[in-house]
Amino acid sequence: VQGGCLSIVILGASGDLAKKKTFPAVFNLFRQGFLPEHQLQFFGYARSRLSDQELRDRLRGYLKAGGTDPSKDAATVINHFLSLVTYTSGAYDTEEGFIKLNEIISFHEVAKGGKEGPTRRLFYLALPPSVYPVVCKLIRQHCMNQRGWTRVVVEKPFGKDLASAEALSNQLGELFTEDQLYRIDHYLGKEIVQNLLVMRFANRIFVPIWNRDNIANIQIVFKEDFGTEGRGGYFDEYGIVRDIIQNHLLQVLCLVAMEKPVTLTPEHIRDEKVKVLKAIESIKDKDVVLGQYDTYKDDPTVAPNSTTPTFATVVLRINNERWDGVPFILKAGKALDSRKAEIRVQFKDTPGDIFKCKKQGRNELVMRLQPSEAMYMKVTQPGLEMSATQSELDLSYHQRYQDIVIPEAYERLILDTIRGDQQHFVRRDELKVAWQIFTPLLHRIEEGKLPLINYKYGSRGPLEADELTEREGYVRTSGY
Ligand code: BG6
Repeated sequence: VQGGCLSIVILGASGDLAKKKTFPAVFNLFRQGFLPEHQLQFFGYARSRLSDQELRDRLRGYLKAGGTDPSKDAATVINHFLSLVTYTSGAYDTEEGFIKLNEIISFHEVAKGGKEGPTRRLFYLALPPSVYPVVCKLIRQHCMNQRGWTRVVVEKPFGKDLASAEALSNQLGELFTEDQLYRIDHYLGKEIVQNLLVMRFANRIFVPIWNRDNIANIQIVFKEDFGTEGRGGYFDEYGIVRDIIQNHLLQVLCLVAMEKPVTLTPEHIRDEKVKVLKAIESIKDKDVVLGQYDTYKDDPTVAPNSTTPTFATVVLRINNERWDGVPFILKAGKALDSRKAEIRVQFKDTPGDIFKCKKQGRNELVMRLQPSEAMYMKVTQPGLEMSATQSELDLSYHQRYQDIVIPEAYERLILDTIRGDQQHFVRRDELKVAWQIFTPLLHRIEEGKLPLINYKYGSRGPLEADELTEREGYVRTSGY
């Protein structure tokens, strides 16, 4: 990446997200040579009183220097990276810390790039959203780059409902322009999600069949085989609909369902995402199943009488020519029987069936986001004695491309930020429609208007969810 001294500032540097995701992602970019070698500095900022060395020691265990270049041994690369990390402690709501932070950044910029050259400043807010407004205000007042760009990356949750999200957008919008703000949704950085548009629009075999004439239903599924794991305090306030469905799964839905963009520019792509979101009908209670796992409230950080759902299946309906009548079934749950995320496109039955295919199940295209990225197509094949059987056309990435290193979602997205590419970030109007879709449902859930079904930790979730999915026409196939 060209363009002058690069400062990457991670606020909330002593927290979980920073050490588990942000710093390791930045380190991987560094190790693979994506960052400028000499004009580079990392800055951690948080409230904890730590020395530079203490922060480096905390981060070291999370940095993995695997890789293909044998001339660089792991410890050398890690030490080199850590030598570029400095730490500043300060409050999130007072000026002193940010004045000090700016001085330190400026000092390094001059030391590395001279007094004149262009500079780039990326601020990554690995912080609770409640402090976004004040932190952004102080960055705006004290840390703006005078010699190049300033970009600010923010993590979800962006608000709790339409009104709070709009209030937050207004506050941030007064401080930064839309092209300075990067709203990250890390699902948009996942390999299979990044491939969706190419797969859909560059493959003639998919183009003519991607519609209501051929597709019976589409599921977008997120499952985790663990519970809230120490994040109960955060989770209990938000619940599964806000944590996974309103953002990660809805973003995936956009890419599966949107029309072909006019060009590949970020604005054209996001225009189409907004359009398909606007065509989603309001959600009816009969299209929702909610659950909570049996041991959820054993977590001391969860309210003892909590009614927060840890599982939800929500059927969305898109009212346009392509999708009228095709249910989009979004399902997400914690503490289930396995960990995976996938998109399942189920095709309609073949007319004039002479092979008794129905018994074997339908054609299905499965795109597995994780674990082990794969795309496979369930097809009917001849079996013994002329009966049909089901098999798979299988593109499992790790088998097919043995040397492939699939970058972590956060790596790609941080690199996109440095390059100024907003294609995989959520635009303000997109966020607004996403909240418009889910806010009435969220309010009804909070008013206790929908039943909350108890399910066993480690199970498939409430039986009622499978029943709803089948009612929507999903014919169960193997591996589901
Ligand atoms: C986060 C959620 O956004 O995504 C977590 O807040 C969830 O609750 C995580 O565990 C899942 O991400 P991934 O990449 O592991 O599927």
